[in-house]
Order: sequence, then C-alpha cells, then structure tokens
Amino acid sequence: MNAQIEAQYWYPVCDAHALRDAPVPAQVLGHEVVVWRDLQGKAQALLDQCPHRGARLSLGQVCEGALQCPYHGWTFQGNGQCIAVPAMPAFTPSAAQQARAVAVQEAYGLVWVCLHTPAGSAFSTTAHVLPLFAAEANERLRKLNAGPYEVATSAPRIVENFLDMAHFAFVHAGWLGDAAHAAIPDYQVTTTADGFKLVNAQAWQPQSSALASQGAMVAYTYEVKQPFSAVLTKVPDAASGVQAGYEESIALWIQPMTPEHCRVWFRMAIADFEAPADKVLAFQDTIFLQDKPVLESQRPRLLPLQAGAESHVAVDKASVTYRRFLHQQGITFGVC
Ligand code: FES
Ligand SMILES: [Fe+2]
Repeated sequence: MNAQIEAQYWYPVCDAHALRDAPVPAQVLGHEVVVWRDLQGKAQALLDQCPHRGARLSLGQVCEGALQCPYHGWTFQGNGQCIAVPAMPAFTPSAAQQARAVAVQEAYGLVWVCLHTPAGSAFSTTAHVLPLFAAEANERLRKLNAGPYEVATSAPRIVENFLDMAHFAFVHAGWLGDAAHAAIPDYQVTTTADGFKLVNAQAWQPQSSALASQGAMVAYTYEVKQPFSAVLTKVPDAASGVQAGYEESIALWIQPMTPEHCRVWFRMAIADFEAPADKVLAFQDTIFLQDKPVLESQRPRLLPLQAGAESHVAVDKASVTYRRFLHQQGITFGVC
C-alpha cells in the first residue's frame, strides 16, 4: 500500500481522556500503531510491532512510562529506544533493537499521530500541520467532541457526504431537510491557498441543530484544506428562533484505518452553554447514524476519481471539486 502523501497528515486515534497508563492500539492508513502515556503524562506512539519477534506491543504493559513487549519483555521508550532486554540484564540494547517511533500530539481533546517519520530523523519537515479549527479560539463558543463513529467505507466517501447538501431532504428528512424543500439554491465554489471553500450554500432545515426551535433556510460555508477533513460553519435564518449571532461550526476529522474502513470524529463549537452535553451529542449521533447505512451501501466503497465514473449534476459541484482536489494532491488511499 503506497500512501506516502496521506502519511504526511495527522489523524486522530483516540480521545485524550481515554488514554491513561495502558497501551491503546490504533490503525492508521493500514499501519498498526500503539499509543500510551509516559510518566510525565505525555502521549507516546510506536508502530505496534516489536522489532524482536514481531509481537504486538499493545498487548504489553506500561512500566515506569516505557512500553514493555508482552512476549520477552523488551521495553521501549516513545522514541523507539529499547532500554531493557530482561533475559540479559547486563546487555545494553543498540539501535538494532529499536522499535519505530511515530509522531504524536494532543489537540482538540484527541490524540493525533502522523506516520511520516523517516527512520533516523526526529520528524519530517514535509509533514503537514494539524487540521485547523478556527472556532476553537472563540471563547463564546462551547466545544464538544462527538464520535468516534465506525464506518465501513473510505474516508473520501465520508468527506464527500459531509459536503453534500442534496441528501439532507432524504437521509435527514425531518431534521436537516424536508422532501417538500429539496431544491438546493446555487452556491459558489472558490479555491483557496491549500484547498477550496463552498460559500453561500443553503438548505431548508426543519431542525438544523439541537437548539433550533423551528425550520429555517440555513446558510452553510464549507472548507476543505486537507484530504480527509473538512469544516462547516452555519448561520441559521433569524426566523429559526435561535438567538442572534448564533453560529455553529463543526469539524469532521477522519481516522482512515484501511482503504474501506474508518473512524470519524466531530468537534462542534456551539453558542449554547446551557444545553446538556448528552442532548447535543445525541443530536449528532442521530444525524450521523442516518448517514452511516447509506455511506456503507455505496459501491464502490473507494471514491472513484476518473471523470465519468459516476454521474454528476450541477448541484454536485462540491463533490466534483473535492474529487479534483484529491487527484491534484496525489491521493491514492481510499480512492479508485
Ligand atoms: S517479540 Fe517483543 S520482546 Fe520478543
Ligand atoms: Fe448527512
């Protein structure tokens, strides 16, 4: 599997609060990874394969901040260095006994990894930054994470669904759309320095968020800067009954595990600090669980990039732009 371009991006692998003193296995771009916390509480990550006999390090345990293999007890630091071979207590392990380090960081309440760490270098400068969520800095907005949701399809199919407003009236009827208001007014696509934006995208929504009290025409902006993530911002019509100045922003972050299997996180920034978190999250669960069976039904699961592979109409220009963006980026994982 050749996914060198994709490997330069960061992907979420677990909730930060779920990472304690036990190793957590995760899969990213077909690679097995293990993450844990060291004695300082800092997240560490290695490829989940012991350099000795290939056992899964995540089956082992964390000993004084280092990860001990379950098979013969070789013990590794987060930089990959082996610090103990218990069968030979006097032996000083060399570079040949190294596990492979994976770059890791915490942000937005999640633990992220980036696989693009060439052997011998601390971290590649060609790696990209974390996906930006501009609403994070706005203190008037409350931040909540939803997910992860497991989905048996490719990451690009999930991003494309996130950018698609024409499905609201069907998949989310009564919530984000209504069959009697299925028409999507024309919207604009603009290219940006690192991707593209959809501007002035509008849809009629009976219940656009957990807070909406009546239907409204809702204006969306979508932005894609990286292959497997996107951010939407929506400002409901004043007639919706939602307080003035209300603006919701949702980031979609995908952990591509295999070409046809993903986990999906959302980070939401909302203006309401009163609504119980479980009510807000239940709304997000409802919406995504409406998407999931349709997403998993799509064939092929890989997103076809060749022109003419699927039938497009004018309202699909967001999808067409996204497919072109993936092609221009040289993406090969999750597409066909
Ligand atoms: S396989 Fe890991 S210590 Fe032997
Ligand atoms: Fe949807």
